[in-house]
Parts: sequence; C-alpha cells; structure tokens
Amino acid sequence: DAQVRELVESKLATIPDFPEPGVLFRDLTPVFADGPAFHALAEALTAPFAGRFDVLAGVEARGFLLAGAASALCGAGVLPVRKAGKLPRAVLREEYDLEYGTAALEVHEGELPPGSRVLIVDDVLATGGTVGAAARLVERAGWTVAGVSVAIELEALGGRGMLAGRYDVHSVLRY
Ligand code: PRP
Ligand code: HPA
Repeated sequence: DAQVRELVESKLATIPDFPEPGVLFRDLTPVFADGPAFHALAEALTAPFAGRFDVLAGVEARGFLLAGAASALCGAGVLPVRKAGKLPRAVLREEYDLEYGTAALEVHEGELPPGSRVLIVDDVLATGGTVGAAARLVERAGWTVAGVSVAIELEALGGRGMLAGRYDVHSVLRY
C-alpha cells in the first residue's frame, strides 16, 4: 500500500551513470540496512500472492536477500536461482541478456516436488531477461510459476511486456 511504498522509497538511493554511463541505478542497500523498511518490503512482495505459492525463488544475488526475508515472514521455503557454476549437483541452465552484459542462471533438477508453485522474487525488473530465465528454469524443472514479484520495476525497460502476459507480475515501486 501507499504507506509501504513511501517508507521504502524514503530509503531508496538513485545513482546516475552506474555501472556505466546512461544507466540510472536504483540501489536498495539502504532499504536492506533499515529494519522497518526491509520488513515492510519483504511483506509487500508476497502479500498479493497469499495462498498461491509453495516456495519463493530468489535470484542471485539481491533476490536472495528478499526471498530469504520474505520466507521467514510467510513460512515458505526458498529455491536459490544461482549464477552459473555455483551449484554442486545436476542443474538446468538458462542463458539470458542483461541490461548490461549476458549471463546464465541455474537451479538443481529435482530440488522441489513436481508441480510446486514457485513465486519468483527479485529486487529489480529491468529488461526482464533475468526473471524470464528464472521462469523458464522453473517450467523446465516441472514446477509452475505462481507469479513474479519485484521490489522495483523500471517501466521504460519493458520487462513486463517481455514476460508477455504469461505471468502475474507484481512490483512494489515503479519508475
Ligand atoms: C540485476 C538485478 C536483477 C536484474 C534485472 O542483477 O538484481 O536481477 O539485474 O535486470 P533485467 O530485468 O534486465 O534482467 P545483476 O545481474 O546485476 O546481478 P546481482 O544481483 O548479482 O548484482
Ligand atoms: N538497479 C539495480 N539493479 C539493476 C538496475 C538498477 O537500476 N538495472 C538493472 N539491474
């Protein structure tokens, strides 16, 4: 709600030209550093999906913080969606384009029971490449995407459109 948005926004930092010229970087670290703001944000991520998910998928690295905090509040488990090469057992892998650069994400095959309802959590939705790759991993693994929930949606970068109406996308703040 408006009170949560106001609290989170009051702590958010905005940095021009990071990590490269022309990027206006939204930095959540002051939100993470503030107990009440972090708590309110973590609650706001899962509230719209109450009763519709079994597990929170957190995308490395900042999505881990949000998924971990939200899981402690709502009692769901966490599926870590990791950058390539970090997981020790058999993985599924999806490559994707970033706002700056390319990367790949992985999950362990069989980490969750078949049909598990997975809510994908991340800090920022920009082009949607990251969350799109996470959603493909969830589906290839035999689970279902309950939705996508992010702290910040950068509307000009078109992530919501890239997810093409396939998923229920929720953002706490939009710029
Ligand atoms: C950032 C951010 C999102 C992603 C959003 O992560 O945390 O995961 O980019 O961009 P997109 O919608 O265009 O894919 P980054 O890859 O910089 O990794 P980090 O969290 O490990 O710093
Ligand atoms: N902030 C944080 N992460 C990001 C951003 C941003 O503005 N754009 C893409 N990933």
